[in-house]
Amino acid sequence: MNKIKELFNIQYPIIQGGMIWASGWRLASAVSNSGGLGLIGSGSMYPDVLRDHIQKCKKATSKPFGVNIPMLYPNLDEIIQIIIEEGVKIVFTSAGNPKTYTSYLKEKGITVVHVVSSLKFALKAQDAGVDAVVAEGFEAGGHNGRDETTTLALIPMVKEKINIPLIAAGGIATGAAMYAVMALGADGVQVGSRFVASDEASSHIDFKNMVVEAKEGDTQLTLKELAPVRMLKNKFYQDVAALYATAPSVDELKTLLGRARAKRGMFEGDLTEGELEIGQVSGLIHDIKPVATILEDMIREFDIVHHKMNNITL
Ligand SMILES: Cc1cc2nc3c(=O)[nH]c(=O)nc-3n(C[C@H](O)[C@H](O)[C@H](O)COP(=O)(O)O)c2cc1C
Repeated sequence: MNKIKELFNIQYPIIQGGMIWASGWRLASAVSNSGGLGLIGSGSMYPDVLRDHIQKCKKATSKPFGVNIPMLYPNLDEIIQIIIEEGVKIVFTSAGNPKTYTSYLKEKGITVVHVVSSLKFALKAQDAGVDAVVAEGFEAGGHNGRDETTTLALIPMVKEKINIPLIAAGGIATGAAMYAVMALGADGVQVGSRFVASDEASSHIDFKNMVVEAKEGDTQLTLKELAPVRMLKNKFYQDVAALYATAPSVDELKTLLGRARAKRGMFEGDLTEGELEIGQVSGLIHDIKPVATILEDMIREFDIVHHKMNNITL
């Protein structure tokens, strides 16, 4: 039995990554109803908004779903209390120290997964007692590590050293990519960018269309001094790049980033001044589809590739 299917009691070892301004109850419940694991992204939600999304998700699906908590944002204690009160059974933490909440959440009977971008942090997460890790490569959309380790290099290195289930993320939008990372030792996958271009994502339609139009080379990981993030190279990105040319201080970068850039870009559709987080794999995403179709396509392609590989001899 596949370890990730068993851990979460799901049909396919495919997790929809928590994504600020994209993964509300509609996306999470659609993924769970289609046999994957949907995650509500709490990073862009005030505590009462999160409670509403959890309650709506419970009504929209009888299947398991979880909440992602990026530890970059405020109100963490309140968010954790809501998750416990609402009986959520799965939490993915990210962008912080896995020691902070893992044992507390586990005492409450919650399955805990932590997202990492390096082997060092994978070992730290395992030590903290998490049930699984997501190892996310440099090509992924959104916030990421500073070390630039790609998924192809990271997954086998993490696999070699940890003994808990391993979920691969970064650059996975197709069944073939899923097959590839599972060949490298992953037990399942976490998919982000592909689900942004879905009917059910809460991202602004203009952002979704820009993702569909994106080509290879249209994203960049930047703002490493603050919190490294991969985004589309729009005007806001060009402004960041121009500021870098002046060897700015961290405070100057913070001032340019300002507040609410991510909401402005991804939720409100300001493609010029907003921050548009997406992965390198956006160059391979050519349409906006319903979640059910995305999952069906991935599974069908996985099976085709599996068959093809069985017929290859070297
Ligand atoms: C728009 C966007 C927002 C994201 N927000 C979060 C977040 O709030 N928390 C988190 O842990 N990861 C976040 N991520 C990362 C995803 O959960 C996922 O790990 C990543 O997108 C996988 O790489 P891919 O984009 O190549 O599929 C975000 C990614 C995107 C594209």
